Amino acid sequence: MNVATLISEGKAKQLLTTENPEEIQVHYLNQATALNGKRKEHIDDKGVVNNQIDSLIYTYLGQQGITTHFIKQLSPSDQLVKKMTMIPLEVVIRNYASGSFQRKFNTDYLMAFEQPVQEFYYKSDELDDPFINDSQIHALAIATPEQLAQIRDQAFKVNEALTRLFAAADITLVDFKLEFGFDAQQNLILGDEISPDSCRLVDATTHDSLDKDVFRKHTGDVMDGYRTVLSRLQATVK
Ligand code: C5P
Repeated sequence: MNVATLISEGKAKQLLTTENPEEIQVHYLNQATALNGKRKEHIDDKGVVNNQIDSLIYTYLGQQGITTHFIKQLSPSDQLVKKMTMIPLEVVIRNYASGSFQRKFNTDYLMAFEQPVQEFYYKSDELDDPFINDSQIHALAIATPEQLAQIRDQAFKVNEALTRLFAAADITLVDFKLEFGFDAQQNLILGDEISPDSCRLVDATTHDSLDKDVFRKHTGDVMDGYRTVLSRLQATVK
């Protein structure tokens, strides 16, 4: 019997109940948003492509020893994950300058960093996800210093693993965003989507954008880049 009921709908995904209260079903929508959800568009095939990219990335991260919410892909557009209580932080890692870093510090596009840059943003649509530092996180009791240290350590490990994975597919991982939370046993684990919606990815040779920047900047058909990412990853990990 299918007991799935809608728990919530986000910008590009629906979360549904399953028979196991410790697990949820994620349904990927054919939807893209920008400007923190203020711009929203239907995009054919996006849900299926992102679900496949995310499932492939999470399977790989599991093989690399990262503990995550991912259990298995259920169908072209759905996957099964552990139910989590999310920490309201966006953890951004940058290997090259782009996006808000480039704008804030007026650097050259894709200036390489000697060490990856790590930033936290407070997840709040109402406040437009403001930048937040460690002492602000502690003042607001969002996470303890030990939890933040664990999150940073995991985020850098994910960066090393994903940089290797994408490099093998001739793709440069410019920057990306992660989210962490607690599973039913209170383990701090990696959750949420990892796809061209949440990563900046460029072709290693041409530097053509293969991610949501194409949608954000109206520079072409966003699905061209997403399909390139999927087919190159499939060829890399098979
Ligand atoms: O815009 P900014 O340069 O700060 O974004 C850094 C990275 O975090 C980008 O890869 C972007 O796709 C991702 N991000 C995200 N969700 C947000 C903000 C940023 O996935 N709300």
